[in-house]
Amino acid sequence: MSELHPGWPAVLVAGPVMVRPPRRRDARQWSRVRLANEDWLAPWEPSSTEPWQARNSTFEFHRSLSRMRSAARLGAMLPFVVCYGDRLVGQLNVSNVVRGALKSCTIGYWIASSAAGRGVTPTALALVLDHCLTAAALHRVEIDIRPENHASLRVVEKLGLRQEAYYERYLDIGGDWRDHLGFAITSEERGSSTILSRLPSLPVPPG
Ligand SMILES: CC(C)(COP(=O)(O)OP(=O)(O)OC[C@H]1O[C@@H](n2cnc3c(N)ncnc32)[C@H](O)[C@@H]1OP(=O)(O)O)[C@@H](O)C(=O)NCCC(=O)NCCS
Repeated sequence: MSELHPGWPAVLVAGPVMVRPPRRRDARQWSRVRLANEDWLAPWEPSSTEPWQARNSTFEFHRSLSRMRSAARLGAMLPFVVCYGDRLVGQLNVSNVVRGALKSCTIGYWIASSAAGRGVTPTALALVLDHCLTAAALHRVEIDIRPENHASLRVVEKLGLRQEAYYERYLDIGGDWRDHLGFAITSEERGSSTILSRLPSLPVPPG
């Protein structure tokens, strides 16, 4: 772990869920999952004029991996993939890391539809929130969610994150400027017990 970027790199595990830095050999599985989940993911992703196929090719994974690794080296982000059992099923990125007096970051995530509804994302998010507010020495984590995204709202609800803002026409998502609800948690709100312990149980292993 570097002084510039405490808490990086990291591998975090709870039951069958593992959150770890992406690596070059994830390219094929990442691309396969992304291409198979276009209808599931596209409504919640940044707008783009590039076709989904091109944006989610193995070539694009390698480009994005280089960018994320540079940002991670500079201390600006903690890029993670989410694994369930031995399969890569999603991504969870800690971005916009600001140090100094703010010590804040923003988290975004997605998971394959085949792994949805099993509590994998709340578990991955709890692991990363605990990590951000301890080893990574951040004070505050923010997550922005469209009011229409009931599944994602359930994720932050399960972990007890505080709603603190309503941003009008905030992000260019799924083809237009979309309102977002801002959720946050600070290290004081976390206290001394883990956020993971807020979940009643861990996901069952894939079977
Ligand atoms: C939002 C998302 C990450 C949730 O991940 P998850 O691992 O399924 O989270 P959970 O298992 O806690 O499920 C959350 C809610 O999703 C809904 N859900 C569950 N299975 C579902 C399915 N197969 N299809 C649609 N919604 C489903 C349920 O309302 C569930 O709440 P519940 O547990 O109270 O029933 C996932 O739905 C996803 O990746 N969606 C597309 C991309 C996206 O929205 N990213 C977040 C942008 S802020």
